[in-house]
Amino acid sequence: MYRTKTCGELRLADVGKEVTLAGWVQRIRKMGSLNFVDLRDRYGITQLVADDNGPVEVLDALKGLGREFVIQAVGTVTERQSKNAKIPTGDIEIKLSCITVLNQSLTPPFTIEDESDGGEDLRARYRYLDLRRNPLKNALMLRHRIAHEVRNYLDAQDFLEIETPYLIKSTPEGARDFVVPSRMNPGQFYALPQSPQQQKQLLMVAGYDRYFQIVRCFRDEDLRADRQPEFTQIDCEMSFVEQEDVLNVFEGMMRTVFKNVLNVEIANPIPRMRWYDAMDNYGSDKPDIRFGMTIHDLTEAAKGKGFSVLDGAEYIGCISVPGCADYTRKQTDELTEFVKRPQVGAKGLIYIKLNADGSVKSSIDKFYSPEDLKKIAEVAEAKTGDLILIMSGDNKRKVQNMLGTLRIEMGNRLGLRNPKEFAPLWVVDFPLLEWDDETNRFYAMHHPFTAPKPEHMEMFYSDKKEDLEAVCANAYDFVLNGTELGGGSIRIHNADVQKRMFEVLGISPEEADYKFGFMINAFKYGAPPHGGLAFGFDRVCALFGGSDSIRDYIAFPKNNTGRDVMIDAPSLIDQVQMDELCIKSVLPESDKK
Ligand code: AMO
Repeated sequence: MYRTKTCGELRLADVGKEVTLAGWVQRIRKMGSLNFVDLRDRYGITQLVADDNGPVEVLDALKGLGREFVIQAVGTVTERQSKNAKIPTGDIEIKLSCITVLNQSLTPPFTIEDESDGGEDLRARYRYLDLRRNPLKNALMLRHRIAHEVRNYLDAQDFLEIETPYLIKSTPEGARDFVVPSRMNPGQFYALPQSPQQQKQLLMVAGYDRYFQIVRCFRDEDLRADRQPEFTQIDCEMSFVEQEDVLNVFEGMMRTVFKNVLNVEIANPIPRMRWYDAMDNYGSDKPDIRFGMTIHDLTEAAKGKGFSVLDGAEYIGCISVPGCADYTRKQTDELTEFVKRPQVGAKGLIYIKLNADGSVKSSIDKFYSPEDLKKIAEVAEAKTGDLILIMSGDNKRKVQNMLGTLRIEMGNRLGLRNPKEFAPLWVVDFPLLEWDDETNRFYAMHHPFTAPKPEHMEMFYSDKKEDLEAVCANAYDFVLNGTELGGGSIRIHNADVQKRMFEVLGISPEEADYKFGFMINAFKYGAPPHGGLAFGFDRVCALFGGSDSIRDYIAFPKNNTGRDVMIDAPSLIDQVQMDELCIKSVLPESDKK
């Protein structure tokens, strides 16, 4: 037997026991005549000790040890002279009678400590060493725990976990698909699922009325801290339900998981906000409601003083930032630079300062008297000491979106986004369709299987663009602290409505048949009313762990350019493989090396 105990479990009550431990050498140090080794495994750290007068074999073995060697240690549990309250095993140590080196280790390229000295790239290349560190170990343990709680909850609610295929048909509608060539069907490709959306709906047709899966999804899209090309969803679908039923089940799930994993009671009931209100007041479809600073419409109040930028704008909006009237010129310039960055896209930023002494100062003093500015401040619901930040433009939603980004930035600057505070929210009543000027067509805001609200069905069949734009969907998102954690909808289960949906999206019957024929057919055989949703599991884990970045919660993630730098993927494949797959790669000039 390699070990009788782990490095995390011995306590004072074990004193006197003979034990065998196995693990990695974290640290070796000598103090006077005592030689110490910190031995680490997944469960913790235990101190080993040998006296200079101890067994010769032990002393010899100690001399040859290096960091990260794998050893087996035999000894007696003894009470420590100087205890370490920071670790659970800190009251005891193991008096060594034997050490066996099970394997040596090269000196690791960075220190395996909670605060490592290795850069991100280096640690990514040696991910298996990085994963030995506590922060990552704790993240993976948290992930396991959440998955376990989710399974328990859904199992108790009669959900069946059913696996769906990874090799499916390419039907890109949202992001780009990752595709896989088929050797047996030359020239043809599978796609990796962006989500098991169609399969889970087919399971409803098949009668499995409560399905879930903790499942890998693949999307070839630009990456960010909360986006990976392969990520995991808690994917669910239910039959014979309305929106209310779905929200109740998953509100219950989140409440249970929060309670059991973090011992946190979240709001009950979770508040709901209409998409339109979220956009108007927070400039975002995933508002962070931990702080106020909501957007106010100044379109009426700020016009008519001869300032062409505002007079000519379709929409003018602002946020009032509490207590920031004393911002210096440098600070307001910095904010202007912030909103001018391409990611935000504003042309500029106007400010009004409501100074503590009652005076008003603004970047538009030339056009607006103090009285004018005070009137604007009233509409903005700003108080003395506040800094009002104003933006304007031709497109209301775009300006609101920019204000929403600025609001989050100000929330960060003012420390209003405490990761230990959890403010969940359902965003409901999404528009069904989104018009795209570039391609001159509608896109499904969620996906093409989302049902219009029954009361909007007449508008859904209208030919007018404005009518179609006004149709709401039975769709909902679960938002936490400004992150979209999950989303779903009640689905179309009527073949006619589905046909109309494809028509509205400009998908011809032939194209619909080619891409979704299997769905359209299946729906002719008794599709029950159904709906569901999917949570981004990696995002759930990161938020529970108090982080913005999902990478730390995934054992082997990809970097910003979609590469796994440890295994060096993606990579070229050899000509034989290419020939077998009937594939020829034609690189653009710019990519030729
Ligand atoms: P949606 O596309 O909204 O819905 O995805 C559901 C949730 O998955 C997470 N997510 C991601 N997480 C990490 N990296 C990514 N690249 C990524 N993309 C999405 C988000 C998101 O809320 N089939 C529907 C669900 C349904 O209607 O039932 C779907 O996939 O947290």
